[in-house]
Amino acid sequence: MDKKLWQIIEKEIKRQEETLELIPSENFVDLETLFIVGSPLMNKYAEGYPAKRYYPGNKYIDEIENLAKERALKAFKLNPNKWSVNVQPYSGSPANLAVYLGLINPGETIMGLNLFHGGHLTHGHKVSYTGKLFNSIQYCVKDKGIDFKELEKLALEYKPKIIISGITAYPRTLDFKKFYEISKKVGAYHVADIAHISGLVIANLHPSPFPYADVVTMTTHKTLRGPRGAVIFMRKELEEKINKSVFPGLQGGPHMHTIAGIAYAFGRALKKDFYNYQKQIVKNSKKLAEELIKRGFELYTGGTDNHLMIIDLKPLGLDGKTTEALLERANIIANRNSLPSDTSPFNPSGIRVGTPAITYRGMKEKEMIEIAEFFERILIKKEKPEKIKKEVINLTKKFPLPYRKWLRMANKIL
Ligand SMILES: Cc1ncc(COP(=O)(O)O)c(C=O)c1O
Repeated sequence: MDKKLWQIIEKEIKRQEETLELIPSENFVDLETLFIVGSPLMNKYAEGYPAKRYYPGNKYIDEIENLAKERALKAFKLNPNKWSVNVQPYSGSPANLAVYLGLINPGETIMGLNLFHGGHLTHGHKVSYTGKLFNSIQYCVKDKGIDFKELEKLALEYKPKIIISGITAYPRTLDFKKFYEISKKVGAYHVADIAHISGLVIANLHPSPFPYADVVTMTTHKTLRGPRGAVIFMRKELEEKINKSVFPGLQGGPHMHTIAGIAYAFGRALKKDFYNYQKQIVKNSKKLAEELIKRGFELYTGGTDNHLMIIDLKPLGLDGKTTEALLERANIIANRNSLPSDTSPFNPSGIRVGTPAITYRGMKEKEMIEIAEFFERILIKKEKPEKIKKEVINLTKKFPLPYRKWLRMANKIL
């Protein structure tokens, strides 16, 4: 047993057990996912697609990839005659790049939501290759929602080939129909990136982009609670272009252990429990937002419709970096985040808070009140975070994670 390495793993497990994980893009996998992703499937090279591999020995690997695809389509109730799915992208960023490169040429125009307003780096931000390889035009949020007036004006002026709808730090419902209508008007593909909200879409707690999109991408490790990875759904007529772009365009051998974990995650998403979990994520998010507002916090767009919210720290005279560090001293993990009024991403004035991970642990509305109180005591009443840390650890102990069992098993058999 590699003692040094296992000691670090154990420390990280303890950290996860004893902290309140409020980063909206993080979640906790279950033990079955850990076993599947750690399985000998990891050993197999399977470049290509089922029944069209560049390596021999892929009989069972094909079965696994086909199962993942079948369940992914089923989870979103998609007609397999109209939609295809690629489960091979290594993660969300390469999935998005593969889609853009599959559909259009470098130098052509894409349009996505500005990073400071809640968009993702891969939606055309200037430091991402998506903003360097393509001519990137960014739209914004105005008042409490996407500024569709400006979006349409920009689309008519710049004639993008792709319009991306998708969020990473925007707490409101997206109107995919409006994106579709503007895309159609200018002859652009509509690519929806539902990385954050995929679980909510499956559970019908957020409108589906599928009636209105040509391509839908998502990561598998956020609200879906699967292993790190991504999938791309595309209308049948785009299948060849996008599949070729993923492999051989951008990637080599698919990570079959991850794809098996994705098959498991979509299988779980077909069960009733999954719906209840997603419903509680949103209930918790709304409750936490309400309790924060009650205590004097200001939230970006005034609240939340989904699994996340962003506190505007400027009225408190705080910034994102200081706040992130103060909270971490109390074992509360929430990440700093830019807001539209910021000029530099290095010193953002927001803190992003989400409920998927704490909801998986079993926390409900009662705990949201406690968490809002922790925020108030640290950030408004200026209590010492170290004092609150003990209370946070006590709270986490009531909602255990399953990883000690896994660690004990590893210790026993290795
Ligand atoms: C909307 C969105 N798209 C893409 C990604 C990128 O995913 P990954 O970190 O797996 O590359 C993220 C990650 O946070 C995201 O929020």
